[in-house]
Amino acid sequence: MVEHYFTERPQSEFRKERFEVDILDQKIIVNSGSGIFSLKEIDFGTELLIKNSKIPKNDAELLDMGCGYGIVGIALKKQYPHLNVTMSDINDRAIKLSRQNCDENDAECMVIKSDIFSNPELQSKKFDVILTNPPFSAGKAVCIEIIKQSKEHLNKDGLFQLVAPHNKGGESLKKIMLEVFGNVGELCKKRGYRVYISVKK
Ligand SMILES: C[S@@+](CC[C@H](N)C(=O)[O-])C[C@H]1O[C@@H](n2cnc3c(N)ncnc32)[C@H](O)[C@@H]1O
Repeated sequence: MVEHYFTERPQSEFRKERFEVDILDQKIIVNSGSGIFSLKEIDFGTELLIKNSKIPKNDAELLDMGCGYGIVGIALKKQYPHLNVTMSDINDRAIKLSRQNCDENDAECMVIKSDIFSNPELQSKKFDVILTNPPFSAGKAVCIEIIKQSKEHLNKDGLFQLVAPHNKGGESLKKIMLEVFGNVGELCKKRGYRVYISVKK
């Protein structure tokens, strides 16, 4: 069976990778490995999302949906310690690595294994910010579900922010965000990638 980074329980032998990410004036140690997005370096879209995300100034609950090895949540928790950060992913290895990376980088975050919001621990939670670099490889339907279910898990005035390559799927997800939230904007665009934002009214 071919394994993708979104496989829930990867069976392939685990080949470890370790690298440093320099972002928001911090150095973050990343333990990554086979079966994980993105294997050897931070993804360009992810970096764009972290650097351009809109973060509330006061206490806020933030969710890093589809966290991979946890770089979005960890970088933002370190930059904005007032945030309560939760991260979740369907992939067992991603969950294990996210926990390890939180410990190693002294970032206190909650890490929950979940297929979108299906884990009861996530089902009952509401957030002020949800960020995602969505799993296109898992199919458009999963990305659309992430958008729809995120709306139900945002507090009033909560922010949903998604990064994608505009001409390779992003434009259509932007339209879905408009349909679901009734509004959509762009926080930035660079090298074909854009960060889209919708507000829960
Ligand atoms: C494009 S990767 C982004 C990873 C990480 N946030 C980053 O930017 O490096 C998308 C992530 O979504 C996860 N994913 C795929 N399907 C999912 C689902 N149904 N529920 C939760 N996470 C899922 C994948 O395992 C993968 O880690």
